[in-house]
Amino acid sequence: MPDSASVDTYAVKKEQWSSRFTFILAATGSAVGLGNIWKFPYITGENGGGAFVLIYLFCIAAIGIPIMMAEIMLGRRGGHDPVTTMKLLAKESGHSSSWGILGWLGVIAGFLILSYYSVIAGWALAYVPMMSLGNFSGLDAQEVNAVFGELVSNPITLMIWHSLFIIMTMFVVARGVRGGLEKAVTYLMPLLFMLLIILILYAIGTGAFQQGLSYLFNPDFSKITTEGVLSAMGHAFFTLSLGMGAIMVYGSYLPKKTSIAQASIAVAMMDTLVALLAGMVIFPIVFANGLEPGAGPGLIFKTLPLAFGNMSYGTLFGTLFFILLVFAAWTSSISLIEPAVTWSMKTFQLSRIKTSVILGLLVWLMGLMTVFSFNLASDFTISTSISTQYGEFVILKDATAFDFLDYLTSNIMLPLGGLMIAIYAGWLMKKEFSAEELKINPLWFSIWLFLVRYIAPLMVIIVFLNALGIVAFVRHIIN
Ligand code: PFF
Repeated sequence: MPDSASVDTYAVKKEQWSSRFTFILAATGSAVGLGNIWKFPYITGENGGGAFVLIYLFCIAAIGIPIMMAEIMLGRRGGHDPVTTMKLLAKESGHSSSWGILGWLGVIAGFLILSYYSVIAGWALAYVPMMSLGNFSGLDAQEVNAVFGELVSNPITLMIWHSLFIIMTMFVVARGVRGGLEKAVTYLMPLLFMLLIILILYAIGTGAFQQGLSYLFNPDFSKITTEGVLSAMGHAFFTLSLGMGAIMVYGSYLPKKTSIAQASIAVAMMDTLVALLAGMVIFPIVFANGLEPGAGPGLIFKTLPLAFGNMSYGTLFGTLFFILLVFAAWTSSISLIEPAVTWSMKTFQLSRIKTSVILGLLVWLMGLMTVFSFNLASDFTISTSISTQYGEFVILKDATAFDFLDYLTSNIMLPLGGLMIAIYAGWLMKKEFSAEELKINPLWFSIWLFLVRYIAPLMVIIVFLNALGIVAFVRHIIN
């Protein structure tokens, strides 16, 4: 029950999570996904390992957790879709309803992310039958590479798997069922952990475990670029599902009694653990087989089948693993589209089913850009840079449509959304309201406030400016 009159006025909550535990599970389901098992290892590989991991961990702690608390808090207090929530909250604290734009940004970001997320989840789906038929048994690194290459070079096959994943996602969203998914997550997340542990045992046996660990945890700062710092920060938002209203919508179903701080810390810790475990599995396999850590988006699809193809019961474990990866992606994808669904239902007065069908079709269409970016349109790339008399600042280099969407959403839209959330929660929302929602002791509250007021916004802004080369530019002028 809401505990204050100010909240009562508009927080007409239709649904609530059955307990704090189910909220943590659903939020973890949203957070743990392709970001942890597919994206974290490959961007770590592209950015030289340890130093990147350290910056990422720092971003999780100093920006991710405080912003997650802020986003859940805003969601629970507003109690609606992100656009309405932000408008209502702005009104409550006497600010402009233009804050609704923050909700909008999230709705669009979620839509764009799902359009490529479902293509990659489609790869995972495709690997389930391939694994179970033993297609990878006894293959060497080159042969596994070739199998992956064949999959992504075929637009029709990719389109079929992408379509299937969109149908799966929209099916759950259309039913509006949290029950089924909540239950699935209850059983599947622990299983995913267990399989990762089994894979770590395999990774230890490769003989390159030490090398893998030191790649992940020994920072070599000479390998870090400004681009890498931006990716680490963007990934902290992506992996925790922050900055786009997904966690805000989930927060809107959260009972008043639940401690937001504890829930946020639990979700962030589980999410980070899964990512690190995935890294500890993948890099030893990479080094033991002379593969390239910077192989890009195909990294896990080239390394894990090697492990499974060469271990006893590999067919069984491999099939199970990719099924779980699909589930992890599934519980994330529904949260990606949930802000758009709740917003469209309200705006166009459509039923959940109709909204899901329409949005599903639109996301599917948009996803074709990513499908083709791996084959037919792989030569269609863009490069953007800012050119000044002091030099050229490269923003994107030879980016395919997939690279572009990924960059735009993870590195720009999510941090921007997160920045706005931090500014709103830290500076504009009345302190008594945030204190009432968070209910933590005064010391923790001051720490949280300090982080959302100063540290998180400053870091996001500095990283942004730096990525745009502006810091370098200013430095040049001063000298
Ligand atoms: N956190 C998800 C992952 O790591 O795969 C991706 C994601 C889900 C991002 C939901 C944003 C979001 F709102």
